[in-house]
Amino acid sequence: MRILNPNYIYIDGDFKRDIAIAFNSKIELIDNIEILKDKYPDAEIINCGKNSVLYPGFINTHIHLEFSANRTTLKYGNFIRWLDSVIENRDRLLDSCDSAIMEEAIQEMLNSGVTTFGEVSSFGAELEVCKQTPQKVIFFNELIGSNVAYIDALYSDFLIRVQASKEAKNGIIPAIAIHSPYSVHPIALKRALEVAKRDNMPISTHFLESPEEREWLESGSGKFLEFFKKYFNTTKPMTTIDEFLSYFDNTPTHFIHLTQAKEKELEYISKKGHSIAHCPRSNRLLGCGRLDLEIVKDLNIPFSVATDGLSSNSSLNIFDELYSALMIHSGEDLIELSKLLISSVTAQPAKIFNLNSGEIREGKDADFAIVKLPNAPLSLNDIALYTILHTKKVESLFIDGEKII
Ligand code: BEZ
Ligand code: FE2
Repeated sequence: MRILNPNYIYIDGDFKRDIAIAFNSKIELIDNIEILKDKYPDAEIINCGKNSVLYPGFINTHIHLEFSANRTTLKYGNFIRWLDSVIENRDRLLDSCDSAIMEEAIQEMLNSGVTTFGEVSSFGAELEVCKQTPQKVIFFNELIGSNVAYIDALYSDFLIRVQASKEAKNGIIPAIAIHSPYSVHPIALKRALEVAKRDNMPISTHFLESPEEREWLESGSGKFLEFFKKYFNTTKPMTTIDEFLSYFDNTPTHFIHLTQAKEKELEYISKKGHSIAHCPRSNRLLGCGRLDLEIVKDLNIPFSVATDGLSSNSSLNIFDELYSALMIHSGEDLIELSKLLISSVTAQPAKIFNLNSGEIREGKDADFAIVKLPNAPLSLNDIALYTILHTKKVESLFIDGEKII
């Protein structure tokens, strides 16, 4: 048994003082340090030090490790400009992304306190590094392909990757990702959802990310029309906004972005028990706009803040993302938003994906991120804000009770 003794602790959505945690691989007991010492006299005591704040380990629900080699290759500013550059440079980017580059990306997440991440896997190239990392990985095997002629081949490859992730164990949670409404043929999509439903696997999909996607799905026109004529020799979308949404009616899904969703679509998403991944920096860099957080909050839709991959971001540091979210939603109350953002990388994603983490509670996994504030906070209620403003790197990190940092 070990005991962690921080100055402050994030518990039930608030910050408290004078509370310590006794743990093995799970949290055993939460109480005053003296009571824990009495109860476990042989326990190793770890004092977290001055101005320390203990959080449950953070959860980054949406990244693309296979594209971690990108720095100055992909073009930002507009979604189609970016997508064109992905198509043009994909093979080169994938070839140059070796295990060392992916491990470096994973290390950046560890340094920022991420103990669980959701990896969208296009090819399965990163399964080995995900098996080796101490983090827990929701491994979203991605289905992509709009061309009917290739559906069977793409679908068989998808099933092989799903099977490999099921056999991986080592902290890998097998899951599926449908790339998007414009890039996946509905026949394959429906078959993939059946597979996910049968095994109760988590599901994610990019949806209503850019204004161009919305225009294409609504009227078959705009820059996506040019894109599809150029690369796929097609001129019609395969689905509509409402039809695409309806495919997921019986499978609660993590919808990525929804920057271009209107209130009616968000209402539908709320009604069907879905959730959202909010990636503010990716959305800004690809010219996609901003998620309507006010409506998301009003409708009580669970959401995570996530970094997306290095294909559309400059870092996988979760604090960088929280900082940007804090700045971008400038109409929100600063203190309340800071607390909401901390919940969006802890309790909310844990609940969305049914993880036994994301909360400091007895019986939960002993996944901890400990940060140090530069000075003592005058008010407990402001600690979320100060954490987001002043942290780049955690002081220490535990996963299933093991000290990683
Ligand atoms: C496809 O593979 O069909 C596809 C990929 C990216 C964008 C659109 C379509
Ligand atoms: Fe993404």
